[in-house]
Amino acid sequence: MTEYTTPQDAQRRISELTELIDRYNHEYYMNDRSLVSDYEFDALLRELIDLEHSFPQYALPTSPSRRVGGEVNKTFQQVQHRFPMLSLGNTYSIEEIEDFEARTRKLLDGTEFSYTCELKYDGVAIGLSYRQGELVQAVTRGNGMVGDDITTNARTIPTIPLRLQGDYPQDFEVRGEVVYPFEAFEAMNRQREADGDEPFANPRNAASGSLKLQDSAECAKRKLLFCAYFVMIPGEEDYTAMALDTHYRRLEAAKRWGFKVQPYIKECRNIDDIRFFIDFWDKERWNLPYGIDGVVIKVNQTTLWDRLGTTAKSPRWAIAYKFKAQQVCTPLESVSYQVGRTGVVTPVANMRPVWLGGTTVRRATLNNADFITKMDLHDGDSLLVEKGGEIIPKIVGVDLSRRIPGAHSVRFVTLCPECGTPLVRAEGEAGYYCPNQDGCPPQLLGHLEHFVSRKAMDIDTLGSERLRLLYDAGFVHNVADLYDLRKEQLVGLGADSAASIQERGADNILRAIDQSRKVPFERVLYALGIRYVGEVGAKKLARYFGDIDALMAANIMELAMVDDVGEVTARAVYDYFASPTHRDIVHRLCVAGLQMHWSAAMVSHQLEGMTIVVSGVFSHFSRDEIKASIEQHGGKVSGSISGKTTYLLAGAKMGPEKLKKAEKMAVPILSEEEYLHMIGG
Ligand code: IVH
Repeated sequence: MTEYTTPQDAQRRISELTELIDRYNHEYYMNDRSLVSDYEFDALLRELIDLEHSFPQYALPTSPSRRVGGEVNKTFQQVQHRFPMLSLGNTYSIEEIEDFEARTRKLLDGTEFSYTCELKYDGVAIGLSYRQGELVQAVTRGNGMVGDDITTNARTIPTIPLRLQGDYPQDFEVRGEVVYPFEAFEAMNRQREADGDEPFANPRNAASGSLKLQDSAECAKRKLLFCAYFVMIPGEEDYTAMALDTHYRRLEAAKRWGFKVQPYIKECRNIDDIRFFIDFWDKERWNLPYGIDGVVIKVNQTTLWDRLGTTAKSPRWAIAYKFKAQQVCTPLESVSYQVGRTGVVTPVANMRPVWLGGTTVRRATLNNADFITKMDLHDGDSLLVEKGGEIIPKIVGVDLSRRIPGAHSVRFVTLCPECGTPLVRAEGEAGYYCPNQDGCPPQLLGHLEHFVSRKAMDIDTLGSERLRLLYDAGFVHNVADLYDLRKEQLVGLGADSAASIQERGADNILRAIDQSRKVPFERVLYALGIRYVGEVGAKKLARYFGDIDALMAANIMELAMVDDVGEVTARAVYDYFASPTHRDIVHRLCVAGLQMHWSAAMVSHQLEGMTIVVSGVFSHFSRDEIKASIEQHGGKVSGSISGKTTYLLAGAKMGPEKLKKAEKMAVPILSEEEYLHMIGG
């Protein structure tokens, strides 16, 4: 890194870098153009981050470095919308669109006007407030009057400009939809499954979940897209002065200011144009990179909006046409059964291939045994298959009129298709599962994947394919076997696959396995994959019992004494350690040298009775480390400043809201150096 001798130099370079990176980002995300290599870009960003770290007084609130996230949201403040976020009247019927058009024409009584037709994005609505060209707040729709402040996470979305360009209004709001593009959504879900996390049901839920992530750095990784669809400027004079008197022009202007405005917007003169737009996108929607669930039709001339007015919930100058799900009918050819990582058996319908919503559909889930019973499914039945706004086709029924006379009902398998163990069904549950946790191949692989996952032992050189290779070769049947692996077993494995292991790969795997011996006890406990024991539960159990022997010796009542551990979890922990197979695995892990003691034992009581809020970035600690350090010295970590806060421990790039609140509540601010001094270096 270049050394900047004077603060003035540093300030100048920060502003230079900010401008340069903003421009590269803009070209990349808005115009799909790369002006520099990834390497150069990363180097510039790194330089900016380093400089801001050394000279925090010059770090701009709109700096592109904030796009990588880092601030942690403990809660999302509820804020009132300046203008209510109305919803739209919507319909599935083209006749109602015709009625809307005729009614609007009548109300406008001879005035000349047009419509804009645009896509109805299937995501999460948010409002972005800009003052003097800077993003100041991002709020979710919520109930239309009050939403959640998600500014920190919104800042990480590259298509949300932090600073505007050109002739923008001084104080206004842009609304739009945050969507999760299909490709990124699928990649993220694959990763979640590999990490042992629950996959999201659809891109909309994933977008919504992402905006509510506590760790904004995590949100930054999510590849969300903001589609602007509405510009609100308080004060009519501004509109007219800026010639922003049509919705179309406002969106064009938003594009100039730096927003990503999707190009699929059309000015329509009459109902035929509108019908054409709807029909076109009903077919074409499958070729878009993100989900839409309809088309929005708005009166283009914003000056006419007041004349048309609003009903209680929605404006009279706009309406949404929602696409119907597409449906086809195709015969069932067979049912296969998939055993999941947790042992749950899912029936899958294999159907005669059929074209539906842009792809050929061959298979669709039958969910569980109850679903088959409810549909009274018979061999060769004609299935009604639907595809809505999402990507996955759904079986919604059977065309009984086409049932083959004499066909047998579909009977759920009784033995596990993977290991032959008789399946069981827990009382009140909709489906069957294979109870052979420690011998059924997909379940074993599931345990192994969970064990090596990032939040558990973090052996990142072993992905699911390599684990499969090790399993198929007979080297690894349970998690303890990983620690007995030898280099000669690994080299040359899977020679003809993408996951093949060469000399260097083998060294890396063994090194990562070795490194995992240092992973703290609470994560080892989480890695064991005991039912109902998540990261938090594992930490609480580890802290309470202190070591594995005490935990294994505990009875259900003792286990249930732990904070947040209910009876169901206590029983699951007890049952887990009651199994001789599990006791043997744990014993082998102890012998292999894994951490089996709570090591965050108290280092001192220096911070006893203190509650400390942490904000910003630190040079001697990661955020998790500094929190752990506070706890190890007897302090308590809290996410938000309140009357009980003893100190605000402030790193570089601290959130300005936190600082303001601390000043207002007269909470003393502690620097990293002061903190180090306090805990004795
Ligand atoms: S205009 C007052 N345009 O659909 C009118 N909404 O009930 C404000 N949506 O939750 C909405 N795409 O988030 C508009 N191109 C688009 C849209 C759109 C999606 C969402 C919006 C709202 C719902 C309408």
